[in-house]
Amino acid sequence: MTSPSTLFGLDGQVALVMGGGGAIGSALAVGLAGAGAKIVVAGRTSAALESAAERVRATGSEAIAIVADANDPDSCERLVSEAVEQLGRIDIIVNAVGGGAGKVLFDAEAYPADAWEWIYDLNVRSTLYPTQAAVRAMIRGGRGGRVLNIASVRALLGINAGYSAYVAAKGAIASLTRQWATEWAKHGITVNAISPTFVDTPQVATLLGDPAFKAGIVNRIPLRRVGSTDDLVGPCLLFCSSAGSFVTGQMLMIDGGLTATQ
Ligand SMILES: NC(=O)c1ccc[n+]([C@@H]2O[C@H](COP(=O)([O-])OP(=O)(O)OC[C@H]3O[C@@H](n4cnc5c(N)ncnc54)[C@H](OP(=O)(O)O)[C@@H]3O)[C@@H](O)[C@H]2O)c1
Repeated sequence: MTSPSTLFGLDGQVALVMGGGGAIGSALAVGLAGAGAKIVVAGRTSAALESAAERVRATGSEAIAIVADANDPDSCERLVSEAVEQLGRIDIIVNAVGGGAGKVLFDAEAYPADAWEWIYDLNVRSTLYPTQAAVRAMIRGGRGGRVLNIASVRALLGINAGYSAYVAAKGAIASLTRQWATEWAKHGITVNAISPTFVDTPQVATLLGDPAFKAGIVNRIPLRRVGSTDDLVGPCLLFCSSAGSFVTGQMLMIDGGLTATQ
């Protein structure tokens, strides 16, 4: 029987974490490094990336930071070329760019086109272009690979609070996860998604800072707390390691049981 350290180990592998300077991206980068992967953190802000790369290096793994715009296909192609040039290969891409849910809230019948485009760019195109570039490199490498997307419980659940664009964008991530899994299985590439409820991060700090709002959320979650970035690391390792070899096209809810109650 294969040992757990072999099943979940990522020695010799290279993981690209898009949005690796963000709250969830940097936590997943550190988690993947802890399993032995070399890490590329990418995003638009050099300082955040350097700080995440430092946290990764503290685990003993190699890390490089590359500035790139997930919404620009040429920038993503350059990012992947540079990563392969410096670290030799790409085995895993984690798409941790996204968000904006609470920033543009409008009634569905009046949702403005510019806000819709912003949310779609931030959550869908930002997943599309880096993945296309990384998967082309995986196909050229001929060793298979892993794609992990981040959707949200909003990929499944509506919410009566002006979230049309975010709900549609995360639904698109869920659909793309299944579509890409179907198309890229022939290359030995698995594609999965994790779907958190609220995770205690700066992106939702204002909302969670309102005690009444937080109590309302926590009371709907059977495990009676919001998520932490650490809650996402185990599922990430499952999907990105050989432990998840026969799992593809799946979306795992990481929500303390919230969707189980709906
Ligand atoms: N936090 C939650 O409660 C929660 C719950 C469910 C799902 N999620 C999802 O989890 C993902 C990560 O969320 P988070 O809380 O970690 O957000 P975050 O801290 O804001 O991280 C997102 C990262 O993406 C980067 N980014 C944004 N636009 C980019 C672009 N065009 N090109 C490259 N990088 C870009 C940002 O850095 P720069 O701006 O410096 O580039 C930032 O570091 C999102 O998809 C979000 O929807 C979060």
